[in-house]
Amino acid sequence: MAKRFLTVLAVAVLMCSVALLGLSGAAEQKAPDVIQLQAKLWKEHTKGPVEFHHKKHQDEYKIKCDQCHHDYKDGKNTWKEGDEVKKCMDCHNEPTIKGEKKLSPDKQKLNLKLAYHENCQGCHKELKKKDKAKYGKIPTTCIKCHTKSKK
Ligand code: HEC
Ligand code: HEC
Ligand code: HEC
Ligand code: HEC
Repeated sequence: MAKRFLTVLAVAVLMCSVALLGLSGAAEQKAPDVIQLQAKLWKEHTKGPVEFHHKKHQDEYKIKCDQCHHDYKDGKNTWKEGDEVKKCMDCHNEPTIKGEKKLSPDKQKLNLKLAYHENCQGCHKELKKKDKAKYGKIPTTCIKCHTKSKK
């Protein structure tokens, strides 16, 4: 009797730990403080990695997650904090880096270079235009983001 109870207990404990492992795995997705952006979609890069301070953008500059992370359903961004974060290139998988603005509108939406430039450079340019005194040093030119040479 006691032996059977122990077996049931052991199985229950095992099942709980499997479930917990699964949960913690999902909750653990965390962005590094600094990310070297160098998407694998491009087998050959013409530029070095772009150093992106994720934590600073979040905490110091107080940019909301959904300014950069999204998941569109019927044209609406339904992504919210806590949802899975996919890599930009998981969706923006159109790789053209020359003449990308000549692509059809549908392809432009999924072009990775345009996605990054619209998001990063787009916000920076807008802030600089709004308040030049405050944002005079925000990176808007190639070399300010692409600071590293390609190796
Ligand atoms: C605000 C930051 C920012 C500015 C300014 C900027 N870029 Fe980028 N660019 C990025 C990021 C981020 C990526 C994605 C990098 C990656 O994943 O390799 C990128 C990707 C690229 C790529 C494709 C990847 C590669 O290595 O070939 C090219 C080409 C490029 N940028 C050229 C330029 C040029 C030319 C300018 C200036 C006219 C410029 N960028 C300005 C942030 C910027
Ligand atoms: C200014 C833009 C920006 C903001 C704001 C931002 N992120 Fe990110 N985040 C990025 C970029 C870019 C990446 C790298 C994506 C890639 O490698 O394709 C990233 C990566 C991540 C990752 C890692 C994904 C992985 O590949 O493992 C997580 C998790 C994440 N962000 C969560 C958040 C959360 C939560 C917030 C808000 C509290 C937030 N981010 C705010 C741009 C941003
Ligand atoms: C789950 C898929 C998915 C992921 C992941 C994703 N995007 Fe997008 N993104 C889209 C789609 C689809 C659109 C086009 C929406 C529309 O129809 O206008 C879009 C549009 C955009 C746009 C133009 C409209 C806007 O929202 O400003 C930018 C810029 C952009 N994405 C940048 C990024 C960046 C940078 C990342 C990574 C941090 C990223 N996207 C991750 C699917 C995705
Ligand atoms: C919604 C607005 C917004 C978006 C989107 C954004 N940034 Fe920024 N970024 C800022 C602000 C605000 C600063 C701080 C400027 C200052 O105080 O001079 C900044 C500063 C920077 C700096 C210089 C200081 C530092 O923290 O390293 C770099 C480099 C930079 N951003 C890269 C990027 C890249 C790469 C992306 C896209 C993945 C991006 N940013 C997306 C608003 C934005």
